[in-house]
Amino acid sequence: MAESNTYEKYTTFLLMKPSRRISKISPPPIVKLNRAASELQDVISFGQGVPFFTPQSSLFNNFVENFKRQDHIYSADEGIEELRFSLSSFLHDEFHVQYAPSDLILTSGANQAFMNVIFSLLDPGDEIILPSPYYFNQKMAIEMIGGKVKVSQTSNNWQLDLQNIENQITSRTKAIVIVSPNNPTGAIYTHDSLIQLGELAERNNLAIISDETYGLFAFDDSFRSLKSIGSIKDNVITIGSLSKVFGISGWRVGYIGYPEHMLDSLLKAQDTIAICCPTASQKMALELLKDRKKFKENIAKIGNIRKKMILELKQLDPEMTFEATPGAYYFFVNTMAIEKDDNKLAWDLLEKAKVLSIPGSVFGKRGEGYLRLSYGGTDEEKMKEGVNRIKKYIEKR
Ligand SMILES: Cc1ncc(COP(=O)(O)O)c(C=O)c1O
Repeated sequence: MAESNTYEKYTTFLLMKPSRRISKISPPPIVKLNRAASELQDVISFGQGVPFFTPQSSLFNNFVENFKRQDHIYSADEGIEELRFSLSSFLHDEFHVQYAPSDLILTSGANQAFMNVIFSLLDPGDEIILPSPYYFNQKMAIEMIGGKVKVSQTSNNWQLDLQNIENQITSRTKAIVIVSPNNPTGAIYTHDSLIQLGELAERNNLAIISDETYGLFAFDDSFRSLKSIGSIKDNVITIGSLSKVFGISGWRVGYIGYPEHMLDSLLKAQDTIAICCPTASQKMALELLKDRKKFKENIAKIGNIRKKMILELKQLDPEMTFEATPGAYYFFVNTMAIEKDDNKLAWDLLEKAKVLSIPGSVFGKRGEGYLRLSYGGTDEEKMKEGVNRIKKYIEKR
């Protein structure tokens, strides 16, 4: 983890000195946890943020056979036209969202999409409101470019607290970020709260950046893409990802759906950071978008694990409470009664019970005393074994 004095440590190597801005940013401690887990045998992982599936090898072989010269070189900055058409109809069919192909930019994942958007919106010192617990890379990105994060605490069941969001607004606020379905809580924000959020943003002339990376991992019917809500005006920027839906996080395909007036500034950021989403990855995405049935089957399997895991988690210590949230593939379990220090608990669980989990404090102060358990990467047997190991660990303490 970066120490607060990293900057001073490097002052002797003047040319190599990291910027004050980057020195202030702490990388999430989960890198160390993941590394330690990979060095152990027989670990059950509730840690990973990726689903259990990857594309079928037949599809991959087909992709390689049809590879052409132009697939090796840059595409247009905004992405291959055919893919933008395909993505536009995908977003329409799945989320009832109208984004014309010309209103979509393909990026190297949703993380880069977020970076493009904040580069386009923020001047140094400008503020963005992040409901907490938050996705830590977003906080890091805002601070890295000289912006300021204003944290807004979510309610007891991890929903947006609109009054609290309003209280964070100042003359420097540019945008509110929402992640629904949410990482790390699994919450899906209610339709009503999204309508009210839209009104609040409009009243205060703010943008809303809606991260819908987990939009298809919604295990009830409550998910609404923000842009699909009729009363929401033209201040919404949608970012999304194919990483999770198709199990292709390593191929780096994400997107931005944006209001027309942002095109020029978004393209400046795109061209400087990545030029384009890797062309080969775009071609792969095009293949994957043709087969909607397969990914739905995979997601339904995760939905089944979710139901079973709820039953298993209820058998744990009654003091370990959790909301059976319907989205992404995460449960955020309150472990304060067992151990207040979530970081210590996660390490202890890894070393003594061989279960990998993510400490909630990684996602901000509101996550202290919680563990994030991911059920996206496990099968039923491993899930049961993992929860059982946690149970035994608690009993032995
Ligand atoms: C909320 C959220 N947004 C974005 C990302 C990054 O997605 P990508 O792989 O498309 O960069 C993640 C990855 O875990 C995430 O949880």
